[in-house]
Amino acid sequence: MIYRYALRGRGDLTEWRDAARAYLSAGIPPEMIDWRSMDDADGLFGFDDNRLPDPLPNQPPLHVPPAFIKLAGAAICHSDPSRFALLYRMLFRLAHDRRLLQMSSDADVVMAQRMAKSVGRDYHKMTAFVRFKEMPLPEGVAGRRRFISWFEPDHFIVDRVAPFFQRRLTDMDWLIMTPKGSASWDGETLRTSDDPAEKPDLRDETDELWRTYYASIFNPARLKVKMMTKEMPKKYWKNLPEAELIPSLIANAEASVTEMARKAASEPLPFHHRLQETAANAPVAPKPAAGTLPALKEEARSCTRCDIYCRATQTVFGEGPPDAKVMFVGEQPGDQEDLAGKPFVGPAGKLFNDTLALVGIDRQSLYITNAVKHFKYEPRGKRRIHQKPNMGEVRQCRWWLTQELELVKPKLVVAMGATALFALTDMRQRLEDVRGEPISMEDGRVLFVTVHPSYLLRIPDEERKAEELIRFREDMRKISRLAA
Ligand code: URA
Repeated sequence: MIYRYALRGRGDLTEWRDAARAYLSAGIPPEMIDWRSMDDADGLFGFDDNRLPDPLPNQPPLHVPPAFIKLAGAAICHSDPSRFALLYRMLFRLAHDRRLLQMSSDADVVMAQRMAKSVGRDYHKMTAFVRFKEMPLPEGVAGRRRFISWFEPDHFIVDRVAPFFQRRLTDMDWLIMTPKGSASWDGETLRTSDDPAEKPDLRDETDELWRTYYASIFNPARLKVKMMTKEMPKKYWKNLPEAELIPSLIANAEASVTEMARKAASEPLPFHHRLQETAANAPVAPKPAAGTLPALKEEARSCTRCDIYCRATQTVFGEGPPDAKVMFVGEQPGDQEDLAGKPFVGPAGKLFNDTLALVGIDRQSLYITNAVKHFKYEPRGKRRIHQKPNMGEVRQCRWWLTQELELVKPKLVVAMGATALFALTDMRQRLEDVRGEPISMEDGRVLFVTVHPSYLLRIPDEERKAEELIRFREDMRKISRLAA
């Protein structure tokens, strides 16, 4: 006898797991079950009403390794109809041999891992390539801004990705439609549906803004077509307004490089003013996330989110291992950092390095970044005098910091100084009130607040300076213990 089971909709993990447990506790071997989702059950001809067998008596409790649940959670989102049978076969085998997942050349294990990887890739592409359009509110109606977007994923990932967009875009209403389901957020409830959506017509004037933005960050001198099409595969182009430009930008790249060399940065690029004008007048559509640290860094190179970039030499992005356990956040790059393009390499960086060495923390193990990524200063003669970034600038630059946190996922975040504390928490508290003790954050991370090394360098009184240095070292020792 063959059992037939049709999962509702696309078939989610909970539903599959309940049915799989029932089959397993009845000892039904994999070859005796025909798994389908309603979507590919072909009118469900021959499918009974998902009746499940009775369990065999005296079955031992089933313990499934957490690694399998994780793998199955990803693989079940794959669009291959064979995924349910594959996962049941693995579950059946696991009940007899718990070492299955360690057999890296086993055909089932390889297949499930391949599916999970492909789902992961699709997830990242979706976070990077969703383009939102603002939907104007009806005349006279006040309310939260509303955004809508269309995306075509390869797999059933909408449920999986929706919490990412909820975290990132909490203060606006949005709807993401795809042929494999939809997700929406209204400030209170995140809703998802498996029903396929129809592609809406979303062309409007913000497309032009995207194209201007893309043209501004496109650097013909760094063009690597193969790499570019790998990062932004052609299948996504049709829903990306800026992709229209790609063929002509590639075709003109060589001529543009020659022209750039001729002009040698002596005048602003021609799109510069246009971009600023368009950006000043246009509604700000939420930009997508870059998806990886190198992509984010590359994107930040052409950041114009506030005016500080106008005078700075370059964006000084964070640096360190992409999976660092500890992230240090400073205020903004100083004069030397602005020239070197690296954080904490000037006098404050030297004090920071010396203290790290003293307490035994390896700087190479840390991800080090700043609340603001450009150097804000006042020219005075030949000198450039540091100016504190204002709250608006810090808020604009939080766009990058939030994504660095999202990608690096540090367990411990160290705020050095009030600007970093504000960037990380939106709190304007006295440092002394929160300094020196770990604080558990809502997102599960631990925050530790200390002073900024530049503050120590500026203390005029030698005795106080010595005391404060000791306190700073004490803080760093605590950080070292927390990190361990
Ligand atoms: N001060 C900072 O906050 N960051 C740097 O990178 C250098 C000095």
